[in-house]
Amino acid sequence: MPEKKESGKENRVSTGVPGLDELLSGGIPKGSLTLLTGTCGTGKTLLALQFIYNGAQEGESSIYVTFEETPESLKANAKIFGWDFEDLERKGKVFFVKYDPYHVEDIIEMLENAIRKTKARRVVIDSISALGMYVRDVPEIRKIIFGLSTVLHRLGCTTLMLSEILAEQKNLSRFGVEEFVADGVIVLYYTRADSQYSRSLAVWKLRGSDHSQKLHPYRITHKGLVVYPNEEAYAGGL
Ligand SMILES: Nc1ncnc2c1ncn2[C@@H]1O[C@H](COP(=O)(O)OP(=O)(O)OP(=O)(O)O)[C@@H](O)[C@H]1O
Ligand SMILES: [Mg+2]
Repeated sequence: MPEKKESGKENRVSTGVPGLDELLSGGIPKGSLTLLTGTCGTGKTLLALQFIYNGAQEGESSIYVTFEETPESLKANAKIFGWDFEDLERKGKVFFVKYDPYHVEDIIEMLENAIRKTKARRVVIDSISALGMYVRDVPEIRKIIFGLSTVLHRLGCTTLMLSEILAEQKNLSRFGVEEFVADGVIVLYYTRADSQYSRSLAVWKLRGSDHSQKLHPYRITHKGLVVYPNEEAYAGGL
């Protein structure tokens, strides 16, 4: 477990996920961009919803950019966990944005305008891998990812950038740039040992900060993700 000494709490943003802040020396560094990566169904979207729900509880407004699920489906799923995003939308605390895939090249400008208008402090991009469905040209995608990271850093937003990796994939990102523009990387695993699947998580990097170097188990409960910072996960199959 990392020590908390250099982490002024005022410079950290709580993830809202029980146990996870402890692995990050107190939370995500304010204004940083974190890549949240993992195979499908590992709970990336849930973790991101939990993060912005927690932001609203702490008085920070958020923008949730979705390329895959509709805002309606995200809100309906969140309700199962007791997170009422419709109420937060009415109060102007959370804004869901579904981008038109055919105008993806405008996303950077649109996002910048939306952040300025709503004064959002937290941003979720769900997911960067979905860009690959709309933009075929990898250099073009890399340009978009780099442009997004520049704007989000400049505006000082604490950002979760989600990325889906394939089960057989060894590297952390789809387009080979995400982990480099990110200040931190959190990886979610779903692995099999005999007839049992288990979930585990690792903080791969966190620029300028101490962090846990271990693989920790997590569960998806009726209240969302819960990480067990004092337990080590079985790493078989990774
Ligand atoms: N109410 C629930 N209780 C327990 N587990 C649940 C519940 N609802 C969803 N899950 C688990 O969460 C997983 C889905 O999580 P989520 O949609 O956040 O994953 P994801 O990583 O975003 O997936 P994708 O890459 O497909 O977008 C489901 O596959 C299921 O295992
Ligand atoms: Mg998802």
